[in-house]
Amino acid sequence: MLIRILGSAAGGGVPQWNCRCANCAAARAGSPDVKPRTQSSVAISADGQAWFLLNVSPDVRQQVLAFPALGPPQGSQRGTGIAGCLLTDAELDHTAGLLLLREGSTFPIHCTATIHGWLNRWWPVAPILACFSPVGTDSAARWRELPLDAALELRLEDGSPSGLRASAFEVDPHVPRFVQEEQSEASGSVIGLQVEDLRTGGRLVYAPCVASLTPTLRRLAQDADCLLIDGTFWEDDEPIRRGIGSRTARAMGHLPVNGAEGSLSWLGALKIPHRVYVHINNTNPMLNERGPEHGHVTARGARVGADGDSFAL
Ligand code: MLT
Ligand code: MN
Ligand code: ZN
Repeated sequence: MLIRILGSAAGGGVPQWNCRCANCAAARAGSPDVKPRTQSSVAISADGQAWFLLNVSPDVRQQVLAFPALGPPQGSQRGTGIAGCLLTDAELDHTAGLLLLREGSTFPIHCTATIHGWLNRWWPVAPILACFSPVGTDSAARWRELPLDAALELRLEDGSPSGLRASAFEVDPHVPRFVQEEQSEASGSVIGLQVEDLRTGGRLVYAPCVASLTPTLRRLAQDADCLLIDGTFWEDDEPIRRGIGSRTARAMGHLPVNGAEGSLSWLGALKIPHRVYVHINNTNPMLNERGPEHGHVTARGARVGADGDSFAL
């Protein structure tokens, strides 16, 4: 399996348009210490031809231009290397890019029934896309239910096998802030994905939004060759201290990296080839490659993910 990190930042990217925090200022000034990053998305493929996007970020246009395998194939007037996509939640940074791929898109969109419901009702990506789609308003032609804890063979548009098998697992019942329903939790709202290459046996676990290290996540990560995991915040109180809002990282559905209960102490002990942080918020000090936090992560054998990082499993 070929894996390419299209975007390694959380919502807003690095630099964020309206932010002058230390990282955003450094990235904006072209400092070699803080790399610019686009918003959270990954592309995977078994054969290097047909690619599945894991989340579709508002920066997808820039991401496709930076990775020509996703653009029109050599020798054809129009087309794309994108064979489908899978969504891990309904948040804007993971879904808004679908609207930017409206021209001529027919590739299937896999998500849970909960996420699909919200993308119709509260953030109506699905009905809007249908108006532009060559397959019209036949929603079953594009939207495919991603079941929880069950394997799903990813197929190409002509029905042939892609060589990849995915399964979704629950990581957090956290509900997006635009969902105006009387519920603070919903099953299937935030998931992680395990993807296996059926030929090589290579296994990826992708979990960009993780509120806690659930037993399922721990078990799947142990069996993975590559883990791409939530690196949004360094500290639990970072969003409050940096003026992002009044909620802690955990309350926002993001387990912090640092601290005794943070993700790094677990990640550092995990004996798998690739342990990589993704969905990194621009306030996270580990983004500065000359800072102590970055050194702390790499000393534990983990990686601060960057756009363009590629892995072969
Ligand atoms: C998140 O990752 O917590 C969401 O994308 C938050 C947001 O940007 O609304
Ligand atoms: Mn996000
Ligand atoms: Zn910033």
